[in-house]
Amino acid sequence: MIIHGVHVENAEKLSDVRVDGGVFAEFAPAISPRSGERVIDARGGLLIPPFVDPHVHLDAALTAGDPEWNETGTLFDGIRIWSERKKTLSVGDVKNRAKQTIMMMAAHGIQYVRTHIDVTDPDLTALHAMLELREEVDPYVDLQIVAFPQEGILSFPHGKELMREAVSEGADVVGGIPHFEFTSEYGSASLRFLMDLAQRNDRLVDVHCDEIDDPASRNLEILATLAYESGMADRVTASHTTAMGSYNDAYAYKLFRLLGMSKINFVSNPLVNMHLGGRFDTYPKRRGLTRVKELNEAGITVAFGEDDIQDPWSPLGAGNMLDVVRMGLYAAQLMGYRQIMDSYRFVTYNGAKTMHIAQKDYGIATGRPASFVILNAPDFYHALNENVEVLYSVRAGRVVAQTTPHETHVVLG
Ligand code: FE2
Repeated sequence: MIIHGVHVENAEKLSDVRVDGGVFAEFAPAISPRSGERVIDARGGLLIPPFVDPHVHLDAALTAGDPEWNETGTLFDGIRIWSERKKTLSVGDVKNRAKQTIMMMAAHGIQYVRTHIDVTDPDLTALHAMLELREEVDPYVDLQIVAFPQEGILSFPHGKELMREAVSEGADVVGGIPHFEFTSEYGSASLRFLMDLAQRNDRLVDVHCDEIDDPASRNLEILATLAYESGMADRVTASHTTAMGSYNDAYAYKLFRLLGMSKINFVSNPLVNMHLGGRFDTYPKRRGLTRVKELNEAGITVAFGEDDIQDPWSPLGAGNMLDVVRMGLYAAQLMGYRQIMDSYRFVTYNGAKTMHIAQKDYGIATGRPASFVILNAPDFYHALNENVEVLYSVRAGRVVAQTTPHETHVVLG
């Protein structure tokens, strides 16, 4: 297969790309097709690695308004409403909604998804549904499942047992929610428990950490210390960390040294953080976001996730990482031209690193699997401004999604 006329990762000049045996075989200004070789006209579009959403809740997706809408817009009302909806879950219900959401994501060029799945449910219904779905969607999406204790590990009946069971049944990643535990002691104990569980079972870690506008919520320093001392390092991810947006600068300065040493990854969820954050403030009203720009400038990996797609925590969401990046750039004040052009990394390379995808399996280089998307714009600046379609999503040399661009004619007079 030849991709004809494409800008590879914002390059000014057009290239042709040959894919052979499912891997990138050649990049050159012009490649002549062999007889019978398929040629895809990229329309002068932008070729980048496939999108990664390293943080979404597929078990809750598409439940917005059921049993009620979240009218206060707080995280806590979201948890209350979800806890009601959770009582009516069935494997079929979860699978249908999650599959529909994954199809939306696939249409927008997402090929890697890490989903948090609530395991504070004595029947583990959502987990069972997702374990089945992980196999079914494997041809077009890599799905990682996080055992996520939405209502706490120490603060929920049999929380520890449910976490152990979820891991033994096949969850890929161990989660946590220390800021939601009854006490800060429970919060730190939950982190020690989950890190130990992950190490014993050779799993990754991704914790909902300090998702609260409370400068006293300092579970991150504990998670980072455990990651550093255990050597788990970049196998550990801190999601949200929105309290960092409220830490004083002296504490943040001290904290950043530890974060760098720990090598942990960060996931920010700009859409949902902007929506749920600052809800208890009158004015001035905080943004409720972690320090994306400062983490990024310190060389610490930060990825963006969509978090919630039409559920009790966010009534909106389309499974499109361009929406996430756009909000992230505004909210984190990353609006310089170079920052905008490079921002696709938040939802590609940085997400892949967070999900621990091997470097040899991801990225645009000869010999690597030919997995990529082609956006209908010459570079990422225009892609964001024009909210363009993903013309093609290709996975190891196979087209998994294709979109015909819209055509609008403005009729004057
Ligand atoms: Fe989340």
